[in-house]
Amino acid sequence: MANYVTGLFNFFDDGESNTSSKIVLVTGGAGFIGSNFIRFLLKKYPDYKIINFDKLTYAGNLNNLVTIEENPHYVFVRGDVANVKDVKNVFEEFNPHFVVHFAAESHVDRSILNPDIFLQTNILGTQNLLNHAREHQIEKFVQISTDEVYGSIGKGESCHEESPLCPNNPYAASKASADFLIRVAHQTYGQRVNIVRSCNNYGTYQFPEKLIPVMIYNSLINEELPVYGDGRNIREWIHVEDNCRAIDLVLHNGRSGEIYNVGTGEEWENVKLAEFLLKQFPESKSHIQFVLDRQGHDFRYSVKTDKIKKELGWKPQIDFKEGIEQTILWYKSHLDWIEQINSGEYMQYFKETYESRLTESN
Ligand code: NAD
Ligand code: DAU
Repeated sequence: MANYVTGLFNFFDDGESNTSSKIVLVTGGAGFIGSNFIRFLLKKYPDYKIINFDKLTYAGNLNNLVTIEENPHYVFVRGDVANVKDVKNVFEEFNPHFVVHFAAESHVDRSILNPDIFLQTNILGTQNLLNHAREHQIEKFVQISTDEVYGSIGKGESCHEESPLCPNNPYAASKASADFLIRVAHQTYGQRVNIVRSCNNYGTYQFPEKLIPVMIYNSLINEELPVYGDGRNIREWIHVEDNCRAIDLVLHNGRSGEIYNVGTGEEWENVKLAEFLLKQFPESKSHIQFVLDRQGHDFRYSVKTDKIKKELGWKPQIDFKEGIEQTILWYKSHLDWIEQINSGEYMQYFKETYESRLTESN
């Protein structure tokens, strides 16, 4: 894949030199959490320089970054984490101090339909980045992992950082494999690494294939709200900005080699959450529609977060209902953002997935 770079001239020639300034390679920065994290970093560390390295898959969208694209400390490089040449070039060109690795195939339903690309990007891509990070002796590599690696648990249980990994779907298995590679990088080669395992994120710029944006968008356009199975599965929710704060603390202060869980305890049954979201749209003509369940659907995830709270002083700051209210307002005022996505490959996926779920559940 040919790399192209925007903003390079400004990036190197802004006339500033500051020893506290760091160069951060953010992979997957055109996606949901990555784009929020780039905005967060540029605001908090105006001296830092950020490289957004992204393949721009269906989920990558440079419109997520319009508010900062002119910032002279930001540069976009198109590339594939699984491509040796792309990764070699970006390390040689920018010599980053830090890598924060978000890039991934991230949607469980897609992983069930087509696991191969998940293994390619999420496993081989992570190893490829680790190889170059080692060669360039970078200061810290932060792997953005997920609570899904612990697998499904019952009510009343919660996983801590040393709980066994028990992934149940191709996406979760690929993320667990990547976590083991991160561990190996530290144990075998002494690389400075951390792993962050967070619960489900919501907030601005989330691609409308995940539960909360699907429910918000469908409520807005008077379409059915598709709830998988009996809707009793439980997820734990965090506002993306609270997760960005956690990742920042881990990047700067996390003990090398350590894993940090990130969660809120804000648990919702899917059907209750769908009902709550629908209530926020009193004018909507939408209804909840139970559809065919996800294969191997994990019942519940929940993480213990004592470690990040005690060691790094993190705690979530955004109340769930306020966060949802703010997120709904954002989607209402960014319908053009969704309409731009609603084309080609995405619409095809959406149509096929939900049509077959509806047919097979009847
Ligand atoms: P996303 O799907 O919105 O974005 C993924 C980004 O990675 C996109 O910009 C895409 O273009 C890019 N990408 C994909 N393959 C690539 C490749 N081969 N090379 C370079 N770039 C590539 O994902 P997200 O929801 O923002 O998740 C980001 C990370 O956080 C993922 O690693 C995911 O596993 C993890 N995570 C997500 C959540 C959540 O609730 N969304 C929770 C816990 C962990
Ligand atoms: O737990 C962290 C994980 O959260 C991340 O690692 C993943 O990248 C992210 O995609 C997310 O995975 P989930 O499978 O939990 O998220 P999703 O939004 O796809 O689904 C949330 C729950 O809602 C799940 O139980 C399935 C259900 N669901 C989902 C969709 C899209 C529905 O009932 N209807 C839907 O239309």
